[in-house]
Amino acid sequence: MILGDGIRLRALERSDVPRCAVWINDREVSQYLLVRTPISLAAEERWYEQMAQRAPNEQVLAIDVQTAEGDWRHIGNISFHELDVFNHSAEVGILIGEKDCLGRGFGRKAMALMLDYGFGMLNLNRIFLHVHADNERAIRSYRAAGFVQEGVLRQDMYKYGRYVDVLVMSVLRSEWQAKRSLE
Ligand SMILES: CC(C)(COP(=O)(O)OP(=O)(O)OC[C@H]1O[C@@H](n2cnc3c(N)ncnc32)[C@H](O)[C@@H]1OP(=O)(O)O)[C@@H](O)C(=O)NCCC(=O)NCCS
Repeated sequence: MILGDGIRLRALERSDVPRCAVWINDREVSQYLLVRTPISLAAEERWYEQMAQRAPNEQVLAIDVQTAEGDWRHIGNISFHELDVFNHSAEVGILIGEKDCLGRGFGRKAMALMLDYGFGMLNLNRIFLHVHADNERAIRSYRAAGFVQEGVLRQDMYKYGRYVDVLVMSVLRSEWQAKRSLE
């Protein structure tokens, strides 16, 4: 369990999978992800099993936020893909699936916890991500969390009838340390 202020990251449970399947089939949420086809519950359950088998190189964590009543509500997932133990790097992915929770700062808070976990616990040196150039909300959130743009993969994705550029963004361990020392 990785605990923050009113937010926590925990292991994703099998019982969370039906909720994830709803999120991944919602175009408003998934339009910026790699998903292109409708995803069945069975397919989502297979994804969960495959992810569990690839642990710890693949880690999907649930993002929970605390409600006014003090309960925990599962609002999205955040993950490290293919931890590279030779180069100490990993790709991070994030999804806030509960639509009333978008744009309320939960993404950047969850990302801050994931960076603390990745650099502080897993001894990573570089954490990077890919983001569609038209995903303004995500880019603003990632910048606030400390990510800087490395480059542009031109017309890397084809979606909804057009090609879109994909940005590569990253945080280095030294940048994370410098940011933390100012907080
Ligand atoms: C990307 C994502 C994780 C960001 O988390 P979030 O909690 O929604 O974002 P935050 O609240 O941390 O930051 C959002 C920023 O964008 C701004 N914003 C909010 N809604 C916006 C919108 N519809 N369009 C553009 N900017 C928006 C906010 O003002 C904030 O910027 P600021 O701090 O400079 O004012 C989340 O939006 C999400 O999961 N989206 C759907 C799936 C997705 O796009 N995943 C990322 C794939 S790379």
